[in-house]
Amino acid sequence: MPRKLLIDTDPGVDDALALFLALGSPEAEVVGITTTFGNIETGAATLNALYLLEFSGHPEIPVARGARTPVNGACRTPATHVHGENGLGNVLIPAPLTAPLRASAPEFIARTVMDSPGEITLVTLGPLTNLALALELEPRLSTAVAQVVVMGGAFRVQGNISGTAEANIFNDPVAASRVLSQDWPLTLVGLDVTTRVVLTPDHLQRLRQPPHRLGEFIWRITRVYEDFHLRRYGLVGLYAHDPTAIVCVLDPTLFQYEEALVAVTLEGREAGRTVMKPLPPESLRVARHVPKICTDVNAGQVIDFIQRRLAR
Ligand code: RIB
Ligand code: CA
Repeated sequence: MPRKLLIDTDPGVDDALALFLALGSPEAEVVGITTTFGNIETGAATLNALYLLEFSGHPEIPVARGARTPVNGACRTPATHVHGENGLGNVLIPAPLTAPLRASAPEFIARTVMDSPGEITLVTLGPLTNLALALELEPRLSTAVAQVVVMGGAFRVQGNISGTAEANIFNDPVAASRVLSQDWPLTLVGLDVTTRVVLTPDHLQRLRQPPHRLGEFIWRITRVYEDFHLRRYGLVGLYAHDPTAIVCVLDPTLFQYEEALVAVTLEGREAGRTVMKPLPPESLRVARHVPKICTDVNAGQVIDFIQRRLAR
């Protein structure tokens, strides 16, 4: 039976790759997409999500528009220098033929999970605002969800938006703190592992051979993102942050984990920093679940997994 995934995303170039990967994997059934700010503002993220689903031949998958700002209403600047002015590497895309649901992202998340208790895996590829708001709306979410997999955090490595913070957590630390301290089955896929999964120009070229529509589109949308990696990190290739989170859902054996509580710095110079906290002794524990943090990855096999699925 395929895993039912509800994906919260800010597409975004690596988000687009992650969506293609999930849609191309027989182990997954994407039951909905919710959108958020981050790489791009929420309106554009929603249009991109609708278009990516149409492009992949899945216009029937529902899309719900999400939060426009962090829970405290702060302003956030989209990462257009990383993902292009439109979030998809400045590749012009037609207006989607489909429209988002009337329900907001938090409403849609709450309803979808509560309608199928124990069946839905929530995967977040952007800031955690929609999830925090869904928890506020429906506190029973934490017992009804099958799993929560978050692309976010930087534990033993540097941040990517500041010296200490990863972008998805930095963009809404208050929401992140609520989501990451919730007692539910949580896995964190942070920069500790995603920066080890590098798609090189050669990998991306191979996706174009023999020539096909998806490989060509991926090549075009990744030009700006690849160029950013060269300028910023001197890296020839790109970090596959969000696709790595999807692989973690579909083949968790490719990762190693440590169990720890997670603290998020809410403000100041280190806002958005994630720190592992030791667990209390088992006899004193009240929580049913302990967060699993990815600390190591079989990067070669994750890249193979991504390559095979995107070449289908
Ligand atoms: O830090 C990497 C994350 O931030 C990815 O999800 C990327 O798409 C951006 O949202
Ligand atoms: Ca993202």
